[in-house]
Amino acid sequence: MSVQPITDPKAAGAASPVTDEAFFEALRRSEYANLDAGGHTYLDFTGGNLNPRSLIEAHQKMLLESVLGNPHSTNPTSQLATQLVEEARAKILSFFNAAADYYCVFTTNATAALKLVGESYPFTASSTLLMLSDNHNSVNGIREFVKRRAGRTLYAPLNVEDLQINEEKLAKLLEDGRGEGPNLFAFPAQSNVSGVQHPLEWIARAQALGYDVLLDGAAFVPTSRLDLSVWKPEFVSVSFYKMFGFPTGIGCLLLKKSAFTKLSKSWFAGGTVTLVSVAEQKQHLADGHERFEDGTLNYNMIPSVKNGLEYLETIGMERISARVKAMAGWLAQQLREIRHDNGKPVVRLFGPETFENRGGSLVLTFFDRDGKLYPFQEVEGLANERKISIRSGCFCNPGIDEINSCVSTEEIARYFASRDRHSLPDMVKFLGRMRGATRVSVGIANVQKDLDTFVDFVASLKNKTIAEALRRNEIKAISHC
Ligand SMILES: Cc1ncc(COP(=O)(O)O)c(C=O)c1O
Repeated sequence: MSVQPITDPKAAGAASPVTDEAFFEALRRSEYANLDAGGHTYLDFTGGNLNPRSLIEAHQKMLLESVLGNPHSTNPTSQLATQLVEEARAKILSFFNAAADYYCVFTTNATAALKLVGESYPFTASSTLLMLSDNHNSVNGIREFVKRRAGRTLYAPLNVEDLQINEEKLAKLLEDGRGEGPNLFAFPAQSNVSGVQHPLEWIARAQALGYDVLLDGAAFVPTSRLDLSVWKPEFVSVSFYKMFGFPTGIGCLLLKKSAFTKLSKSWFAGGTVTLVSVAEQKQHLADGHERFEDGTLNYNMIPSVKNGLEYLETIGMERISARVKAMAGWLAQQLREIRHDNGKPVVRLFGPETFENRGGSLVLTFFDRDGKLYPFQEVEGLANERKISIRSGCFCNPGIDEINSCVSTEEIARYFASRDRHSLPDMVKFLGRMRGATRVSVGIANVQKDLDTFVDFVASLKNKTIAEALRRNEIKAISHC
């Protein structure tokens, strides 16, 4: 069995693209040999990418052979650090085709980029923050900044059937939900749960209605090209470890130059000012990316971002994109076909049927032969025993899980009103119903045998019952919608 370079899972079974499988097999051997050495099946690429060997080696060599000093100076070691950091910044801007119109502000991760927008955006009591229900909590959390300024937050729903944008409702909310402003529309280019790639056309549609747009690129950019000369949101958040594994701890905010002055910084810090006086308590903020880069940058690690982007370019973003869609489509089709002897399916997959507008992420739930739902903890535990790394729970994206688990607003309100402390296990007990799911996400280091291992794992659940699993997880009543 081989991965098919197709987007339509129905076409799986056609002639296999040996060349591409051979290419990624070779990449696996040269860059990700630690997977096989440790007997791992890694299927959590939306969580984080893996360290390619060549990136680590190149970076180690650079660190061992260079002397890097704090970039806030003009001495020779400082100059070298500055040069390498600025080369990485220039590479990021050219990778996203953004050099003309954007600043690249280094942050520690996508979350820090999102927080930077949240705390600096000039929300007022007349502002609307409109968000898609399919957002990571690092975007959802921006609503707290809006609340402090007495503005309002609205959520645009997804279609329950396929987890795609409900276009009619979003169009209406954009139009009717606007306050006098400033208004911000925030959505992910790709869902971190379903892998759905939401249409980027919504950027211009929202802007035409006066919104600024925050595009969360964290899950999209590792396997898809984001061309910011075509799509022009005001703000884009990125984490680099999700793109190429190494280094962790570095992300960026791509900030449209025309939106720069909209962001108001609530303090100043070392590195962000051109002049500060203590006698007069005056200061002047720096005019470019420096304004938002508090303190000393991670100058030992940032140079590696340039290598990471070049690594992706050498492989080819289009190639990565096609490969990931093909693997996810193939996997989805195989999983749908796994049935208990009584004909009942072992898994339920959420999201659209095809992978045309999806990345490499599948979200699914598991059922025993009586149609009873497995607790996700049980599934993850069984996968762990086989050294299969998958993700389970709500993936920091409660909006999607509330849809998939059919939890009503009234139920949630009752739960929150019923106690002072809250947690997901406690809510599950309160609802008497399961929440959460399992996420499988494929990426650049995967080869056919990883997919086969996962298919075998799912097949191993055929004809089983979950009575024992329920006792272990102390879940009383199990039902699902
Ligand atoms: C879509 C999306 N946005 C934001 C984040 C937050 O990224 P980080 O934890 O790297 O800041 C993630 C992380 O999984 C994500 O998938």
